[in-house]
Amino acid sequence: MTFKASHRRSLGTHLALFDWLLNPLQRREAPIIYTLLGQQSTTTCGLYLNLGYWTHARDIDSACDELAALVAERAALGAEDQVLDVGFGFGDQDLYWWQHYRPQRIIGLNITRSQVAIARERVAALALGQAIDLRHGSATAMQIPAGSVDKVLALECAFHFRTRERFFSEARRVLRPGGRLVIADIIPLPLSDQPKQRLRQRLTWWLVASKFAIPKDNAYTADAYAQRLSAAGFDAVEVESIRDQVYAPLHHYLQTHPEALKRLHPLLRWALRLALRFSAKTVYAGLDYVLVSANKPGVVEL
Ligand SMILES: C[S@@+](CC[C@H](N)C(=O)[O-])C[C@H]1O[C@@H](n2cnc3c(N)ncnc32)[C@H](O)[C@@H]1O
Repeated sequence: MTFKASHRRSLGTHLALFDWLLNPLQRREAPIIYTLLGQQSTTTCGLYLNLGYWTHARDIDSACDELAALVAERAALGAEDQVLDVGFGFGDQDLYWWQHYRPQRIIGLNITRSQVAIARERVAALALGQAIDLRHGSATAMQIPAGSVDKVLALECAFHFRTRERFFSEARRVLRPGGRLVIADIIPLPLSDQPKQRLRQRLTWWLVASKFAIPKDNAYTADAYAQRLSAAGFDAVEVESIRDQVYAPLHHYLQTHPEALKRLHPLLRWALRLALRFSAKTVYAGLDYVLVSANKPGVVEL
């Protein structure tokens, strides 16, 4: 399904984007930021808002599908599953999972009302409203009955949650015994011993965290991530870095395909072009990207 971003924006939107990008003191919450960004995305066919997983992908749309597939495979998504997708953006991954894995039902929760409205329209246009039930709601206070879903999936969104640990405890509550949680997430890398590199790491993490409303409570590395999941009552916890398949190939793609930026507001385009002058090593110096999986202890009913 192809969606075109509207290029008619009010003066207020231009000013708010300017403030969000350039004011180091602004502190907007995630739903405000996503409402401001609207349907701007670097994809050309859909409206994915993730960075993609680049092993075979030649373009950003396929890389985003690849990331959705990676999460689904890690979750062993199948026909019997009741799935809960938190932070679903515009619903692209739900349409992908429905098409490729045909789970029994997908329920989505997203905190940004403007995205929920558009995602619901897209699902309704395909007459999939019964199978893909997209709702406004928060991953940290879910209106979902305990023990009612088989899989909880969070595709590039858990870094926003206030807090990620509150989400872990909600995910454990709503999962059936034996159910599985899979997350694709952005976290800081452990700090280097070298002062220059450490400064670069701190600066790049701060930039991303302040632009994308990442609470300080969520700024911990892979080891701490695994410990917190275990402490929340999960077992079979795995936290795997996939940063080499995300940041550098995305950066290279954007450097070599300037047309991918054409759907963005001119200010965003300018900021991205500036970032693309530097190497991926510099721009993403402080960032890890992890694929996380864990099980709620118990027996899976067959
Ligand atoms: C980077 S976007 C990713 C969207 C989508 N998963 C994708 O890959 O295209 C992050 C999403 O998380 C949602 N979000 C942020 N905080 C949330 C919360 N507390 N509960 C539910 N959704 C949230 C945002 O509204 C947004 O849709």
